[in-house]
Amino acid sequence: MGSVSLKIGDGTARFKRATLCSSAVNLLMLFSVITTNLFALYAFTSSPKDQQTYHLLHHTQKNISLISEQVSLILREIDSSQKKLAQMEKELLGYESIDLSRSNVAHELKLFLQHHQLPLGKDSRTGITEMVASVGHSCEKSADLLSQYMNYKVSGPCPDDWSLAQKLILRGCEPLPRRRCFAKTLPKVGLNPFPISLWKPVSDKIVTWSGLGCKSFECLNSKKLSRDCVGCFDLVNGFENQRFVKARGKNDFLIDDVLALGSGGIRIGFDIGGGSGTFAARMAERNMTVITNTLNIDAPFSEFIAARGLFPLFLSLDHRFPFYDNVFDLVHAASGLDVGGKPEKFEFVMFDIDRILRPGGLFWLDNFYCSNEEKKRDLTRLIERFGYKKLKWVVGDKVDAAASGKSEVYLSAVLQKPVRV
Ligand SMILES: *[C@@H]1O[C@H](CO)[C@@H](O)[C@H](O)[C@H]1NC(C)=O
Ligand SMILES: *[C@@H]1O[C@H](CO)[C@@H](O)[C@H](O)[C@H]1NC(C)=O
Repeated sequence: MGSVSLKIGDGTARFKRATLCSSAVNLLMLFSVITTNLFALYAFTSSPKDQQTYHLLHHTQKNISLISEQVSLILREIDSSQKKLAQMEKELLGYESIDLSRSNVAHELKLFLQHHQLPLGKDSRTGITEMVASVGHSCEKSADLLSQYMNYKVSGPCPDDWSLAQKLILRGCEPLPRRRCFAKTLPKVGLNPFPISLWKPVSDKIVTWSGLGCKSFECLNSKKLSRDCVGCFDLVNGFENQRFVKARGKNDFLIDDVLALGSGGIRIGFDIGGGSGTFAARMAERNMTVITNTLNIDAPFSEFIAARGLFPLFLSLDHRFPFYDNVFDLVHAASGLDVGGKPEKFEFVMFDIDRILRPGGLFWLDNFYCSNEEKKRDLTRLIERFGYKKLKWVVGDKVDAAASGKSEVYLSAVLQKPVRV
């Protein structure tokens, strides 16, 4: 009896998250527990006096086993309702795993996503029992594109489809599934040795242009690709080769000034939306390692950065940074940090930056574009919540020559992460 009510108690606890229908089940369960226990109490407390009582007891025992049967039936019912609820929860959250039973799902996708039992059973250190392939849950929303992506000849050349891959990533399908095909290669002739590679122009021939509007760096340099990349592939003319060492206005901090604020403790850094990798290049000249986070939106950023001898990280800003807590001495970000949408969305990014930055490390917000005063206020309030020390803080207007000569608000700041206990 005791164990029966215990199980029900457990069921009740787990049902707390659910809604109306589960409350009804709860009541029903409670009722049956009480009835069962009452029957038991009645049966065991009445003392047998004669033959009649003996019969009564016999009947009661029969009735109890009948009730027990009923209870276990109800428990089974609860179990299945719980499973149904979990399923509903999954659907509500959009975490429904990809439906592989559909007819048009690529075979390679099925193979990749199949769970594999560990050959030696449960792993004692990690507690896992099976290997699960990692793929973004939002891939389900783009199931057709995903199947298209996974449709290739095994051990053959991969389709020329990195723009399809990037489209999936931008729809939240990240990480992408692995593939068993050979990505197209380009002979990387004329790569320069480091550190000469940092400032040498990169040949049009060693990057992939498929899926891009421009087919040359000359074409890219005539366009404003983003706020953080205006002519950023031109390492010879223009301003790119002066960024971080020459200021155009009070919002531009010089790299050596910022490093001095870190009192010699800056060695590794992370640059978010780092364009063509110039920040990492300037840091490399100072013997510091910077990882540049970029996608290939409208330009071959990743290949360009790699050709400079720097480390490109192909990852969207929606993805949790693949680094452990408190590891970076410096995080640099410009307007590319703006993820748009609700303020909470930006908060998730800011908290993740905070996580990977070590205490005492610097967060350099570089010419962050605030579309209006309100946005600037919200951002300021958010930053202040983190309790960083403001080593530098400059709000400046800049006249955007490209757009109608209108004045715009930019925030530049160097902030130091505190030790939290
Ligand atoms: C057992 O159940 C029967 C009907 O199923 C009922 O007539 C009888 O009174 C019950 N006996 C006891 C001891 O509760
Ligand atoms: C970088 O490291 C090299 C090799 O250790 C050294 O020769 C050079 O002076 C360093 N440069 C700077 C700016 O510290």
